[in-house]
Amino acid sequence: MCGIVGYIGKENAIPVLIDGLKTLEYRGYDSAGLAVFNNKKLDIIKDIGRVAHLEEIVNSETIDASNIGIAHTRWATHGKPSKENAHPHTDNLGEIAVVHNGIIENYIEVKNMLINNGFKLYSDTDTEVIPNLVRMYYKDNLLKAVADALKELQGSFAIEVISTLDPNKMIVAKKDSPMVIGFTENDKYIASDIPAIIKNTNSFYFMEDGEIAEISYDNICFYDFDLNIISKQLKDVNWDSESSDKGNYEDYMLKEIYEQPNSIIETIGVSLSESINLPIEDIDFKKFNKIYIVACGTAMHAGLSARYTFEHFCKKPVYVDMASEFRYNNPLIDEKTLCIFVSQSGETADTIAAIKLAKECGSTTLAIVNVIGSSMTRIADHCLYTHAGPEIAVASTKAYTSQVVLLNILALHIAEALNNSSKQEINKLKDEIIELPKKVKQVLSLDKEIKELSDKFYDRNDIFFIGRGTDYTVAMEGSLKLKEISYIHSDAYAAGELKHGPIALIENGVPIIGIATNEVTASKTVSNLEEVLARGASVILITNKDVNVSNINHLIRIPECSNYLSPILSIIPMQLFAYYISKNKNLDVDKPRNLAKSVTVE
Ligand code: M6R
Repeated sequence: MCGIVGYIGKENAIPVLIDGLKTLEYRGYDSAGLAVFNNKKLDIIKDIGRVAHLEEIVNSETIDASNIGIAHTRWATHGKPSKENAHPHTDNLGEIAVVHNGIIENYIEVKNMLINNGFKLYSDTDTEVIPNLVRMYYKDNLLKAVADALKELQGSFAIEVISTLDPNKMIVAKKDSPMVIGFTENDKYIASDIPAIIKNTNSFYFMEDGEIAEISYDNICFYDFDLNIISKQLKDVNWDSESSDKGNYEDYMLKEIYEQPNSIIETIGVSLSESINLPIEDIDFKKFNKIYIVACGTAMHAGLSARYTFEHFCKKPVYVDMASEFRYNNPLIDEKTLCIFVSQSGETADTIAAIKLAKECGSTTLAIVNVIGSSMTRIADHCLYTHAGPEIAVASTKAYTSQVVLLNILALHIAEALNNSSKQEINKLKDEIIELPKKVKQVLSLDKEIKELSDKFYDRNDIFFIGRGTDYTVAMEGSLKLKEISYIHSDAYAAGELKHGPIALIENGVPIIGIATNEVTASKTVSNLEEVLARGASVILITNKDVNVSNINHLIRIPECSNYLSPILSIIPMQLFAYYISKNKNLDVDKPRNLAKSVTVE
């Protein structure tokens, strides 16, 4: 969703801001803008459209170089995408400029109060109240005015403020919306997430909720909202900037699909060699009588797949829930519940709220997260990193496979701690996990075959996915991938459910993708495929089993592996299929319409 970038230092701020915004494009946005401080006034440029368009305007208007600036990509929440609604917003006198990520929930009350005090508001946004509120509180200290204003606001925000009233400073603050500050002796970089500024520095301060920072050319001072000083540690992040580049690939998504052998090596490398090494030794797993896995979208699908491993090896009931449902459904959880939260970004608002709820209920919370230092890593009691590296494409690929790998390793770790499963069986699955990167490479070699399939099917209106057990969970993920980036209507069904309703949708030529990798159920899924074939469907089967394929239209053979791990292999043809269909339709693969990489609002 919205992205923010800021800079204060010895360089010209404008290229730094534009570059940062370009890196944040993947978060999803509809307009962009920036403000820099020049010759005692604020220069503000903003418009709807891409960052490249903003760059063109900036170049054509020949704005003077400046050493301080703030910038923003907006994903519309309050008010349509328009120049007026784009950030930065200023106070009525044009002296204070603000960019904001998040939602001010009480903005109508604040707006009315400001109007009653003689202020005029021109946009439809919730954000415009912030600079005006700061103006109202300003006497002679910008930091204090911002802190006073923030106390009036309900909701979520990461904000940057610059002002002609205090031209050598930037004030930033955070509550329930991500913000990091990159640090070098001469330069301070502010952003919604690390990839936007990783090429400039590897040292970061991670802002916590309720913190405000006053940043000048040579200093950063952190406070709480009551302006008590806080001491914070700089942290090193060892991502290299190239991992945030497209390299030789046409799109981030394709690059990330192809990175999977390596990202899985990274996930395994840290957590499993001969034995399992997860930094959660202090959790007493014996005290839990059930496990919840809570997440959104693809991360939730990873949880659904791993549920089978947890139940089989740990012998505890496992419930998987969408964070947006979990948080409002009074879940039956207490101190005897282990709640596992899965997230690529570590910033998803619903999942964060779910962690907070689980903590209030006394449960032990464990976050499985990809982005280092993200909010969930600090909110949950315990954290494990997937180490998949930066994932830029909105459609999640390598984060999913790393999540499934790590969840499986975690299930085995808990099983070992509980000592109630066959050691031999546990060791067999460990060996299979270590073999995965090699097998993933084999599946990637099917690329050409899958591209050809996508040439056949890209113009269809509906494509369905079916499977049973873990094959059903990966069918859901395949279907999500396809609809996200191709805009083709798609659904996933448990294969056995077809004849209880969905089979009514089958007519001549409708593509059905079946996944059959489970020894016990593969032949049953194939029988269900026969039923749709008999009704004219065009069937693609992804399998590693010796099943009767005589009538199947298109067969994709993947390597043999345990059914617990098969989603890691069977998703890859579906990721490629979705990718090539999107390319065939000339769509923006990495930035699909209406979607955002980090869903930081409810
Ligand atoms: O960052 P998270 O893993 O918490 O994000 C959860 C979902 O928003 C995310 O997986 C979404 O479904 C992706 N666009 C799927 O490709």
